[in-house]
Amino acid sequence: MINKYTFGEPYPTEAVVQPVSASGLEGFPFACCLSDGLELTIAMDRDDIVFGLGESIRGINKRGWVYESWCSDDPYHTEDKISLYAAHNFILISGRTQTGIFIDFPGRIRWDIGYTKTDELKITVSGTDADVYVITGESPRDVVREFRGLIGPSYVPPFWAFGFQQSRWSYPDAETVDRIIAGYDAAQIPLDCVYLDIDYMKDYKDFTVDERKFPDFADYAAEKKKQGIRLIPIIDAGIREEDGYSVYEEGKRLGYFCKNADGSDFEAGVWPGMCCFPDFLRADVREWFGSRYRALTDAGIEGFWNDMNEPALFYSADGLRRTLDLASQLKGQNLDLGKFFGLKDAFAGLSNSERDYASIFHHVNGRQVGHMQVHNIYGANMTRAAGDFFEKEFGREKILMLSRASYIGAHRSGGIWFGDNHSWWSHILLALKMLPGANMCGFLYCGPDLGGFNGNVSRDLLLRFLALGVFTPLMRCHSALGTRDQECFAFEDPGDFRDVVQVRYRLIPYLWDTFRKAAQNGDMIFRPLAFDYPDDMIACECETQLMLGEECMIAPVFEQNASGRTVYLPEDMTLAILSGESVRTEPLEKGFHYVRVALNEVPLLIKKGKKIPLCRPALRTALLDTEKPEYIM
Ligand code: GLC
Repeated sequence: MINKYTFGEPYPTEAVVQPVSASGLEGFPFACCLSDGLELTIAMDRDDIVFGLGESIRGINKRGWVYESWCSDDPYHTEDKISLYAAHNFILISGRTQTGIFIDFPGRIRWDIGYTKTDELKITVSGTDADVYVITGESPRDVVREFRGLIGPSYVPPFWAFGFQQSRWSYPDAETVDRIIAGYDAAQIPLDCVYLDIDYMKDYKDFTVDERKFPDFADYAAEKKKQGIRLIPIIDAGIREEDGYSVYEEGKRLGYFCKNADGSDFEAGVWPGMCCFPDFLRADVREWFGSRYRALTDAGIEGFWNDMNEPALFYSADGLRRTLDLASQLKGQNLDLGKFFGLKDAFAGLSNSERDYASIFHHVNGRQVGHMQVHNIYGANMTRAAGDFFEKEFGREKILMLSRASYIGAHRSGGIWFGDNHSWWSHILLALKMLPGANMCGFLYCGPDLGGFNGNVSRDLLLRFLALGVFTPLMRCHSALGTRDQECFAFEDPGDFRDVVQVRYRLIPYLWDTFRKAAQNGDMIFRPLAFDYPDDMIACECETQLMLGEECMIAPVFEQNASGRTVYLPEDMTLAILSGESVRTEPLEKGFHYVRVALNEVPLLIKKGKKIPLCRPALRTALLDTEKPEYIM
């Protein structure tokens, strides 16, 4: 059952598609206080588990920490953080009763989930205008299904987007891209997509291609497509200020950029240097920006990733001026503790500063809206701009769309990647823990940068990361500028990588089917074990395994130099060890088992009475023969 409570006059985020009439506030089920903001206080039972918050740090059970919904460009996903790139304002308190809470509010929200008081959940909304949806049901899964009905159907990518994808910041030119594809083909490792990071553009200008690096881009894209490879270019939120650049000139002339308080265009530096930022909250701006993707779809491009759309601001024009003034005032002085750290902090604080965000204004339907109140839907509306254009122009399921920033609602227009993680062992598990949360909020097509984005990966870490990625709808290896090569063929014994990626291709018919069912039924692909075994205390506390679809459970190895891992089975299951075309199965009884998993193997646990179809592997998704599968059970 869904109850909606409206406080004040909420900003229409359009996250919700199912009409629900608001109940009277006198029936609001939680203690609530309205002053500067809305504050809800909810008592938690000792055994309650709190699921949710989608793409966020820490555990599957969110208890014991404080989180903030505030889309943040932060490349250090450490335990002490409180925000990542997304604002997924949905939690589910699961215990004797099952209660989902969705706070539809596009500004900052603080979720103190037993951090200040162990058994108290305090939600602080930084404003008094919000819709609060309270959803109850028989089971956590029921609550999620109800919620998903409320927010509408998930984005479904084209079938080929289930293939393996290789990315790097950057493959700057056609020769490099060719070398990457040739490397994969020579090692006989399946591949479907190669990503183009910012260097394909001319001076980092959206919707341009540097002709020197990619001469005859449309011909080149067509040639790659003939080889079965899609090129996936990046699009950033900031538009470079440059006379003669049509996107900038048009946006400026039409008044489509975000403003300062005095009505001038807000300016900040990102990769291209000084930029303006399209006011994606406006329908006319979305339509305009969306139609600009045509420059690339006309060249045959069928997939994009929208980046830096929190929006990330390296520095604002004003902030930089102030900081440089401070530096010149201090020049020649003896910098004591206060002065030195003041200067250092001034430079460090240039990026993504609160003061800059507070100086941005949107103009929606004749109304001026301060950015702080709507920050969390900026990136989501960039995704929507693209998604609406793609759907209108090409129909559904034709274009791959990924976004870094997101808010619930954007799950209808695209998928997400989990941003700039690290080549750290702990980030295998961090990604695993985000999956059910993201799924709850409708983001089904998602996954982490496999191998880790920042830092140098080791061979074994990449293999173990990939063995998780075998199951994530988005299976993309991506790495940052300056890191060691992270392509599968770049390591010794590429055959091990082939074995793992082939398992993905063998499982694609199953994963595709599971994905489609989850999209149709408002279900999750990945569930915490607690959803399926609520009476099993060990299962409820398990944070290193996930249920996948109706049939199985995944349990990736996540530690270095480990020849396997301990797996907990809440019931009798079959252990399948998959590697290349080989499959080894073994029945295992309920309980703990140490399972040996070599670096070229992928473990999968199959429930009793269930069977998983496997097709023959192929080098491209288009070459898969999905007709006569073999079954493992
Ligand atoms: C951001 C993105 C990353 C990309 C980089 C350069 O950090 O998250 O994926 O490679 O920008 O465009």
